Amino acid sequence: MDEHKVHHIHERPGHHHLERILTLELARVTEAAAIAASLQAGRGDEHSADQAAVDAMRKALNTLDIDGTVVIGEGERDDAPMLYIGEKVGTGKGPKVDIALDPLEGTTLTAKAMADALAVVAIAEGGSLLHAPDTYMDKIAIGGGYPEDVVDLDADPRDNIKALARAKGVATREITACILDRPRHGTLIEKVREAGAAVKLISDGDIAGVMHTADPDTGIDIYMGQGGAPEGVLAAAALRCIGGQIQGRLVFRTEDERKRAHRIGVKDLTRKYKTMDLASGDVMFAATGVTSGSMLEGIRHTGEFISSHTLVMRSHTGTVRWIKTRHRAKH
Ligand code: FBP
Repeated sequence: MDEHKVHHIHERPGHHHLERILTLELARVTEAAAIAASLQAGRGDEHSADQAAVDAMRKALNTLDIDGTVVIGEGERDDAPMLYIGEKVGTGKGPKVDIALDPLEGTTLTAKAMADALAVVAIAEGGSLLHAPDTYMDKIAIGGGYPEDVVDLDADPRDNIKALARAKGVATREITACILDRPRHGTLIEKVREAGAAVKLISDGDIAGVMHTADPDTGIDIYMGQGGAPEGVLAAAALRCIGGQIQGRLVFRTEDERKRAHRIGVKDLTRKYKTMDLASGDVMFAATGVTSGSMLEGIRHTGEFISSHTLVMRSHTGTVRWIKTRHRAKH
């Protein structure tokens, strides 16, 4: 290979990395959504909390110098007045990017002032995030450092627990699986316990559930079960930055959901997606805590100031930043 070619491959022509300055800009986007949602924490109104987060996130996104298209958003244009799938955001002046967002991940958690509600956004080079319909997805995820496909979405949950324990070099009783507490997971929970593992049930918030597998401090080794498909893409974007693997398959309950998937370009409705199928290319991810939780502190309002806690990271460098910000409250 001649030198010229080596140089070109290194720079990946036509494949521009996202401006790294955007990583920090992204923090402003989730901060704005989280602060707006926090004003609705504990008020019992999921819709208002979500709407506040959506409005604030949209406003903040539109200040960024990006030519952005929402690919994972609040729904399709007709049902979602803002941040609908296909909506253009940003000033239109910067790089062409795909945006996946969940302005309020944990609407119920916020309405009930329970732990772990987040504002989440990911951006990636145009064309590198799966355009997932707003349906369910079967998911399995583990943290970094394991051989590829050590667990498999289609394997018996008991075999997955055993395979993971073997790969980790521990007994199955030292494995903890995180699963959404839903009746649909009854058999899954039984099988995981039968294999000897412990189950940590969460009431909502499976983006955090997946991300916990990549953080040994959480004690969670594996995430299993069915959650939202959009959340699956956002979780994959996060794992691309912090390390780990996720597999997912769309789940359709009605013919209408199948049609919706077709409409947004899903060709093979039974496909098993791996991490890189869900989020490839250079990906940036940001999350701000709305209510305090295991990953991030929530928004705090103290008289003159508002404080926020944000995680921002980027797949290209693997740098993870935690940003604590003090904002002046507007009265
Ligand atoms: P919302 O913030 O939209 O309420 O989503 C919370 C959530 O728990 C997600 O994290 C998860 O993927 C999904 O809901 C699970 O759906 P369901 O509550 O229908 O089981």
